[in-house]
Amino acid sequence: MATITKDVLSAKEVLDAGGLVAIPTETVYGLAAKGTDAAALKQIFEAKGRPVNNPLILHFATLDSIRPFVSELPQAVQLLASNFWPGPLTLLLPKSKKVPEVVTAGNDRVAVRIPDHPLTLELLQQLEYPLAAPSANPSGYISPTRAAHVAQQLGGKIPMILDGGPCKSGIESTILGWDEGLPTIYRPGAITTEEIAGVLGTTPRAHQKSTSLLAPGMSLSHYAPRTPTIATTAVLKELERHKEKKIGVIALRSGFGDQFLVEKEVILSPQGSLQEMAQKLYATMYQLDTMDLDLILIEFAPGEGIGSAINDRLKRSSIHYNL
Ligand code: TXA
Ligand code: MG
Repeated sequence: MATITKDVLSAKEVLDAGGLVAIPTETVYGLAAKGTDAAALKQIFEAKGRPVNNPLILHFATLDSIRPFVSELPQAVQLLASNFWPGPLTLLLPKSKKVPEVVTAGNDRVAVRIPDHPLTLELLQQLEYPLAAPSANPSGYISPTRAAHVAQQLGGKIPMILDGGPCKSGIESTILGWDEGLPTIYRPGAITTEEIAGVLGTTPRAHQKSTSLLAPGMSLSHYAPRTPTIATTAVLKELERHKEKKIGVIALRSGFGDQFLVEKEVILSPQGSLQEMAQKLYATMYQLDTMDLDLILIEFAPGEGIGSAINDRLKRSSIHYNL
């Protein structure tokens, strides 16, 4: 079983030797390996059961340490970096020769970010290489937002988990790139379109084409509990339709348990904070997925701000109606 520790130096030892360490970030836990070592990187794909055509994000401590890994660093990137890094924004930039082929899965762009977590920043500062890290879940399953979730899902396959407590954003980074010169969001995430527009002075567009080859994390059936899951705007209708089943409900602001007998109901944010909903969503999905339910019903969030990232994940994790 993986050692769970808060000790950055022992994490460095494992990584330096080419091993895997699960690391905390502000979004979700990542499964990290030395980003310049093809043999170390191969283990990430094996531990997760991840298809090798799915590229990895490189994590750095500073903008300066990114420079050798990209062939250009446009002005807009420096502007975004000064506003959002460290933070949950991933940028797709033209790669340099220093980036191993397996990191980008043959793409000519590499995904880079500076995560905002004190333990992981301290670790990155002590390393002589970036950390390649996808989310630390078996491929296709819910992303982990606690060390215990990583231990439950991958603990038998990796030597170490760096425990940085619960992740504060709870939803993955926003992926931004340039398509025909125009800023484009490839994956909505913890930094909102509105925030990016505020800095760039122009609203990035959503990537329209099928991204299944470019970014397999954007394909269907991802972020999914093993229990059958339905996301909907009409929770009561679904409760009525499935009333013979053992149901768990994840509601946003107020519950439905007074109108239907349900096995378990969790209200994510009685105050209606989208941030709080994002922070608690995956942990709640994990919890309900261990309860031997017949069905998990999740209520869609309002579409603005981080709500669009929440709804993007819900659509991929479930059968969904009404949105
Ligand atoms: O918040 C996050 O981004 C977390 C933490 C650990 O940093 N990481 C994460 O990694 O969500 P992952 O691998 O689960 O999702 C990254 C997504 C995948 O859909 C991948 O296909 C896409 O980013 N991606 C990575 N490199 C890419 C590239 N060079 N071009 C296009 N898409 C890329
Ligand atoms: Mg992932």
